[in-house]
Amino acid sequence: MRVVTVVGARPQFVKVSPVSRALAEAGFREVLVHTGQHFDPGMSDVFFDELGIPRPDHNLGIAGGSHGEQTGRMLAGVEEILLRERPGMVLVYGDTNSTLAGALAASKLHIPVAHVEAGLRSFNRRMPEEINRVVSDHLSDWLFAPTPAAVRNLATEGIAGERVCMVGDVMYDAALRFGALAESRGHLLGQMGVERSSYVLATIHRQENTDDAARLRSIVDALGAVAEEVPVVLPIHPRTRKECAAQGIALTASGLRVVEPVGYLDMLLLEKNARLIATDSGGVQKEAYFFGVPCVTLRSETEWVELVEAGWNTLAPPGDARAVVDAIRAALRRPAPAARGEGLYGDGDAAGRIVAALASARGPGAGVPVPGVDG
Ligand code: UD1
Ligand code: UDP
Repeated sequence: MRVVTVVGARPQFVKVSPVSRALAEAGFREVLVHTGQHFDPGMSDVFFDELGIPRPDHNLGIAGGSHGEQTGRMLAGVEEILLRERPGMVLVYGDTNSTLAGALAASKLHIPVAHVEAGLRSFNRRMPEEINRVVSDHLSDWLFAPTPAAVRNLATEGIAGERVCMVGDVMYDAALRFGALAESRGHLLGQMGVERSSYVLATIHRQENTDDAARLRSIVDALGAVAEEVPVVLPIHPRTRKECAAQGIALTASGLRVVEPVGYLDMLLLEKNARLIATDSGGVQKEAYFFGVPCVTLRSETEWVELVEAGWNTLAPPGDARAVVDAIRAALRRPAPAARGEGLYGDGDAAGRIVAALASARGPGAGVPVPGVDG
């Protein structure tokens, strides 16, 4: 069967890599559409190179603009390709504007939609991602949920039965596959002037954190204060760099090592060897857990609730720099949970389950039953 995959943003390149590989092994013909949402070589090309993802068959070159403008242009661009390619199915990933455009274009053309990473909810409709997730889930014919919590969220919204399939997390598949390879890049730590287990790794890019000047300033101040005690490595997202420049927020605190966004392998290396991760990223919160590194999430809520429940993640709502510093200090002092225990994100073969379900066109038969939802 011919499938069209729509991706566009950095985390989607990570998510697509194990699934593309499994689709090819199962004999699917995949047409890869890159919307162009992320376009800097360090935000896009490096992931295709490092993760061995086939080059996109189409690149729409659509980036920037308001949400409506960006999503609308993507919708028209994806529709045109779908009319030409006439696939049997469209795959979308996560919760970006590229996800929404892909799901909407396909469903209007009556092409079945498969959503990978379905069912995540922050219950905060002010986040653009929350709108994208809710709409994409309701448009989808196949919902591949990473966690029991995601399956329950879908059930609460009336989405249940054969089309929902709990498969585990494709980001775990990728981290397992590439984690060891990342170790070969250990020289990077020396280049950055940090030592194993002796630095904090930070990432910031959420619109709610970057586009509110006071909030952004409090996060940067907090990271600067932490960096007086422990070096802080901050691979900076282009959105954050732009907003800091626009608001005159200096990134010059001593001990704060601000670098350009790093490639996936370097990021895995930095994560594995960090003493603590402070982030507002969805993917990075999980990767911290995959590598047994404590995490402080710089948000008021998280979609990955099981990490907080298991004691691996602490929420530190930004707004008050002092409170963020205290949360990071407390997490640095706290011993990490002794063992990771039961894996929260599957067994590293989420992609295999997704492709098995699509190949059999049966749906949840290939997934893991969820108590309370599957009986
Ligand atoms: C997007 C997603 C977000 C995801 C994040 C991953 C939406 C609504 N948001 O947010 O869910 O967590 O990607 O990183 O889809 N830019 C560059 N170069 C690039 C990429 C972006 O300069 O390679 C600039 C854009 O021009 C824009 C800003 O960064 O000015 C934000 O980019 P955009 O893709 O709109 O949103 P993200 O914040 O990246
Ligand atoms: N990532 C990366 N380099 C960086 C920052 C992040 O390779 O400088 C990877 C990270 O390891 C994870 C993914 O990008 O796999 C997460 O993307 P991001 O934080 O941009 O988006 P989110 O997960 O919040 O949607």
